[in-house]
Amino acid sequence: MVWTGVSRRGATWGTALLAAVAVTAAGCARTDGGADVGRDSGVVHVVCGATEDWCAATTKKFTESTGVKADFVRLSSGEALARIKAGKGSTEFDVWYGGPADGYAAAGDEGLLEPYVSPNATVIPAEYRDPAGYWTGVYVGALGFCSNTKLLAEKGIDVPDSWADLLDPKLSKDIGIAHPSTSGTAYTALWTQVTLAGGDQGKALEYMRKLHPNVLQYTKSGSAPGQMTARGEVAVGLIFSHDCVATIEAGFPDLKVSFPSEGTGYETGGVALVKNAKNATSGRKFIDWALTTEAQEIGPSVKAYQFPTNPNAKVSDKVVKLADLTLVKYDAVEAGRAKLALNKRFDVEVAQAPKS
Ligand code: G6P
Repeated sequence: MVWTGVSRRGATWGTALLAAVAVTAAGCARTDGGADVGRDSGVVHVVCGATEDWCAATTKKFTESTGVKADFVRLSSGEALARIKAGKGSTEFDVWYGGPADGYAAAGDEGLLEPYVSPNATVIPAEYRDPAGYWTGVYVGALGFCSNTKLLAEKGIDVPDSWADLLDPKLSKDIGIAHPSTSGTAYTALWTQVTLAGGDQGKALEYMRKLHPNVLQYTKSGSAPGQMTARGEVAVGLIFSHDCVATIEAGFPDLKVSFPSEGTGYETGGVALVKNAKNATSGRKFIDWALTTEAQEIGPSVKAYQFPTNPNAKVSDKVVKLADLTLVKYDAVEAGRAKLALNKRFDVEVAQAPKS
């Protein structure tokens, strides 16, 4: 569901209004590095990697709070990166919001982002900020297993609690996971294997090849396997644990979240300014606001239970306690640097990306 007031698919902002705002903004001086403020039309075009509901609620609230208009297109991480790259030189987006930071790190490496350190970023712990200033973390989510307990009971299999459990031949074609070329969730799973293998990408791909016979389908979006598990198409979805919690809340109480004992990976959901953004001033306002408690407390109202990076934001009791989990050492910058080449290897050595 998209809030039609802001969705670009809904395209409800009239050209006349846009033109009027552009005229009002025209003539403003450039205030800081980046695109010329003079062409800022007062509308932020967001490529949004969080759930559609969260993207809609966030852009709506941003406009209510700041008076700056915003619209969004929801795209999975790899797709967002590809779209930003395709638009290089005349970008259609001003800000990238949501989705794992390794995608942002890869975009930064490719010269697709404009460094921007918001004054509001000082409150965000350093571990959730890019040292090079390309992106800032807005939420944290842990990867987990989402099991259909009824299906598993019928098959006589326990709820998995290790990566090794997923290789059980009894789970043949019973696992759902997205493809790392399109999905940040799946890339988090792949890079988690790299970390568990002590940095050995070959070994990580070997694990994914062993998992392959148990995978029914590689979806484009990271959260889709949660719905597949709810519908009973697969017994286990490899997704962010909060996406499983949201699916349980949507009316599927037989689903259960578990975590691998060897250690699980996690995402830092990012926000960043796109290089040569036409609405860079408004884009910076969006980034400033995305780091506030107001913005970071929206998630639970739309069943998005990630951990907020702003330490002053209220945390829902449905958010997983990261301190209770065994987390791998996940370096988003390193993961981002490796992303394109590792995904290419995945395409060749494990499975082709899903066709659009
Ligand atoms: C869902 C999760 C987000 C995550 C995103 C990644 O929306 O709730 O926490 O950042 O998936 O999406 P992707 O489709 O790229 O895996």
